[in-house]
Amino acid sequence: MIGCGYLGAVHAACMAKLGHEVSGFDVDGDKIAALQRAEAPFFEPGLPGLLADAMATGRLSFSTDPASVVGSTVHFVCVGTPQRASSNAADMVYVDAAITTLIPHLADGDLVVGKSTVPVGTAERLAEQISQAQPGATLVWNPEFLREGFAVKDTLHPDRLVYGVPDGPAGERATAILDEVYATPMGEGTPRIITDYATAQLVKVAANSFLATKISFINAMAELCEATGADVTQLADAIGHDVRIGRRFLNAGLGFGGGCLPKDIRAFMARADELGVDQALSFLREVDAINLRRRERMVTLAREELGGDLSGRRVAVLGASFKPNSDDVRDSPALDVAAQLGEAGALVIVTDPEANANAKAKQPQLDFVGSAEEAVAGAELVLLLTEWDDFLTLDPVALATLVDSPRILDGRNALDPQVWRDAGWTYRALGRGKH
Ligand SMILES: NC(=O)c1ccc[n+]([C@@H]2O[C@H](COP(=O)([O-])OP(=O)(O)OC[C@H]3O[C@@H](n4cnc5c(N)ncnc54)[C@H](O)[C@@H]3O)[C@@H](O)[C@H]2O)c1
Repeated sequence: MIGCGYLGAVHAACMAKLGHEVSGFDVDGDKIAALQRAEAPFFEPGLPGLLADAMATGRLSFSTDPASVVGSTVHFVCVGTPQRASSNAADMVYVDAAITTLIPHLADGDLVVGKSTVPVGTAERLAEQISQAQPGATLVWNPEFLREGFAVKDTLHPDRLVYGVPDGPAGERATAILDEVYATPMGEGTPRIITDYATAQLVKVAANSFLATKISFINAMAELCEATGADVTQLADAIGHDVRIGRRFLNAGLGFGGGCLPKDIRAFMARADELGVDQALSFLREVDAINLRRRERMVTLAREELGGDLSGRRVAVLGASFKPNSDDVRDSPALDVAAQLGEAGALVIVTDPEANANAKAKQPQLDFVGSAEEAVAGAELVLLLTEWDDFLTLDPVALATLVDSPRILDGRNALDPQVWRDAGWTYRALGRGKH
């Protein structure tokens, strides 16, 4: 496994669990040191136990030594592909560096399996580079669909497997090897789709674009609801009963974030531009804009609730991770809103069950505390921005006794408005009227 982050560490542990002998390589010494102690370097439910079990079998090891890849026949490339600082495009330096590191160690018959999310055309380029250096090695593109928070389950029991392979015997051989790697999930009936490189790379960004569009669609409806007094949660329930639409991923709120969806749709647009088909994806510009507007709307609502001025006002923010059951704060809507409130002069107290440390590293000017009760103490306004269970099960009656003024903005439409209003709170949410 080359790259042991949210994707690679989970994939490494899961592959060992499936019976394979796995060595994980990463350039980040702290991450590898933690993994060598069987400690998960990030929060992911189920990963600590899985790591401990897999390490105990002796089938899983981690190293910062590039030579540790020697001896493996399948090399999964799991390094990051973040957005470039200067444009919407994906930054390919980590993938390129991983391939450059790997090439001198490749043996005849080895498989290089790309899992990172990359601009279409990358696999073709890397295949050429690999075949020039080691003609007996084959590249496969095997995009990853795991969801943080469910990463272990999604890796052990994926809903589909996609192999982008070259034509001919090399592709057939590569397919047979990957089938061996994934024999257990395939035995459970997981569908496996064999494609060319281009399709495999596009499958991943197409899936993320669809999901982002679905979220922004309902958030656009939320804007209409706000303008008309309609209720977006009822609207979502009603349209969601149509099986062609479906209710999942139709939760209006603060929108999407994290290390994948935002940068993937931007990189997809940038790639379409290079390919001369930018018009095909111009709708994604709107999807991105709707998503970012929700964050602004949240800040506007907070300002409105506090009579038009945030400066010096004590505001509690519940949630910093981009979604519950993750400590990932990359492009987190919650942390973005917290930072914007701080910039507007509010005294912002943030709490998150798992992401405080990561959030503090990104926004050190904000105050972080260990519990919702501490965060809301003396607050004039409470914002629920990440729908962790810990927050959904808070008792509004007890909480009301701690705050300065019982006002809550539900950024995720995750609380029962009636219960909170009955407990004396002023409750407002995105896409819903005041009552
Ligand atoms: N996180 C997810 O939910 C998820 C899901 C599906 C796909 N992906 C894709 O997987 C890829 C990795 O994402 P992530 O969330 O795991 O990122 P991450 O930042 O958590 O992990 C990337 C790791 O790669 C390491 N790395 C960088 N350069 C390296 C090199 N040259 N050699 C070895 N290691 C190197 C980094 O130190 C880091 O630990 C991205 O392309 C992402 O889009 C992520």
